[in-house]
Amino acid sequence: MREHVGEWPQAEENRVSGPKVLLVVGGGIAAYKSCELVRLIRKGGGDVTCVLTDGGSQFVTPMALAALSENKVYTSLFDLKNEVEMGHIQLSRQADLVVVCPATADLLAKMAAGIADDLATTLILATDKPVLAVPAMNVKMWLHDATRRNVAWLREAGVEVMEPDEGPMACGEFGPGRLPEPEIVWAEIAARFGIAADCEPQPDLLEALEPEDEVEAEARGGNALGSLLSSLIPRKTPRREPVDDAERAGEEAFANDDSAEEPHIEELPPEEEIGPDVVPDLAAPIMAKKGKAKAAPPTDVEALNHTVVTGAGDQLPEVLGQPAVQAAADPLEGQPAFDIDPDHRPLYGRHVLVTAGPTHEPIDPVRYIANRSSGKQGFAIAAAAAALGARVTLVAGPVNLPTPLGVDRIDVISAREMADAVKKALPADAAVMVAAVADWRSKEYAVEKMKKRGSAPPALLLTENPDILAQVAAGKQRPKLLVGFAAETEDVIENAKTKRKRKAADWIVANDVTAVDGKGVMGGDANAVHIVTGDGVEDLPEMPKNDVALALAERMAKALDTIDPRDA
Ligand SMILES: Cc1cc2nc3c(=O)[nH]c(=O)nc-3n(C[C@H](O)[C@H](O)[C@H](O)COP(=O)(O)O)c2cc1C
Repeated sequence: MREHVGEWPQAEENRVSGPKVLLVVGGGIAAYKSCELVRLIRKGGGDVTCVLTDGGSQFVTPMALAALSENKVYTSLFDLKNEVEMGHIQLSRQADLVVVCPATADLLAKMAAGIADDLATTLILATDKPVLAVPAMNVKMWLHDATRRNVAWLREAGVEVMEPDEGPMACGEFGPGRLPEPEIVWAEIAARFGIAADCEPQPDLLEALEPEDEVEAEARGGNALGSLLSSLIPRKTPRREPVDDAERAGEEAFANDDSAEEPHIEELPPEEEIGPDVVPDLAAPIMAKKGKAKAAPPTDVEALNHTVVTGAGDQLPEVLGQPAVQAAADPLEGQPAFDIDPDHRPLYGRHVLVTAGPTHEPIDPVRYIANRSSGKQGFAIAAAAAALGARVTLVAGPVNLPTPLGVDRIDVISAREMADAVKKALPADAAVMVAAVADWRSKEYAVEKMKKRGSAPPALLLTENPDILAQVAAGKQRPKLLVGFAAETEDVIENAKTKRKRKAADWIVANDVTAVDGKGVMGGDANAVHIVTGDGVEDLPEMPKNDVALALAERMAKALDTIDPRDA
């Protein structure tokens, strides 16, 4: 279990029904969501007292929070009436839990530095109760080294800092930094008190309101919550203008790149930790959502994109650090035979970066976390791109495959090594991220082999790995065409569309892993994929993985010629 400042309080007999929450509302665009959080806490039987920072009061009014919480809202440290009784100390002690939502970059920095220059930061410093911070900020602010450092420090000190959501932002950029939906925050709070939070996230208000004019929506008496909240926000919410995909790829995604910090790839903050009390939910969907799961799923489902070797003993896992097998003596052995006219070289002059295979995340010198990806699909794509004339860099996890002809291969073991190798391999005209990168790694690496001690197994604490696709998408050297892969078991197209936006990729190639002959993709050489782009969805029929690779490489060549035409 994560260590907290103070113990998470248990539900008490004499409690009405829910927790007493002291909610600090910071000065971020997502502050409007704190209104909904207040509503949810109260609906769940809790009591909320709000403290609004100066910044926060630029986005929501004390009146709105007072009306929703039915409690006085505090804004000033130097309130004489309250300070007769040392009001700020009392406030910090009366609650069961202090929630900072949204926790702006500024608030996180002040909290990490121990600054107490207003009511909110003073009571956060003075409290003896657990503190939950829910960050929300622009992706570059979230990925900035200063914020990384502050978050890491706060977590070290026992503050629970939730992971922000990834996706489109009010400022028009994409990536991690969005405030998690209020329902998710409430569920996080409720879980601490053993309360069932039975509410589903609502569609994001900003997005829900975006396509139409707010005034129009109100006039039509449409979204009641939207109308209420837009009247609570004391200024017009900035809108994202709709942009088509090519425009986004060409302009918006790179608009600030020159001045922007490149995302820090190696040191992403720890995320979820697993306690001994975690019980696997066997009824839950197979696809655990990153940043939302309490524990890693038993295998990385992205591996389903690949041929899977099943059955104990069929193929023993490779020893950590052992180099992958290189090309056999016959240079054509194991190489895909593409039926291509040798003069057909539409990718000539282009650099294509491909990632493939699994990653291995070491636990101790002899053990590691792995997945069943064979890397076949990624290797086939590298081979196809090379066959169409591209210069290809293949960053490969530990697999047992020969290097495709004409391909520069970089072998890596872990996700962080892969992220590093990808960063070094850029720039590229196109990148196809096929690797089944482990979402989680062991938080601690034991230098010595872990020993059995008594009957209690050691706790394996996990931490989140870098999201390589999202980082490449947000980086200075984003390729002109960025393609991700997704394995889906349900709502294939919808999930792929969401992933495309969330990761800011240009295309997502979705595998329907339940669709091939009812047997799934596991163990087979065939694949049925859907290429999801900004223009729509192209469904490819079931075909061998080499053919999928060639079809994709041909489409990439065409797309590159459109995005980046060659000189006549
Ligand atoms: C329109 C607008 C939106 C902003 N949104 C955010 C945000 O989402 N997250 C953030 O950390 N800062 C954001 N800022 C900057 C903060 O408002 C600023 O750092 C402020 O000092 C934070 O105040 P606080 O820490 O008291 O909450 C925004 C500023 C403006 C003008």
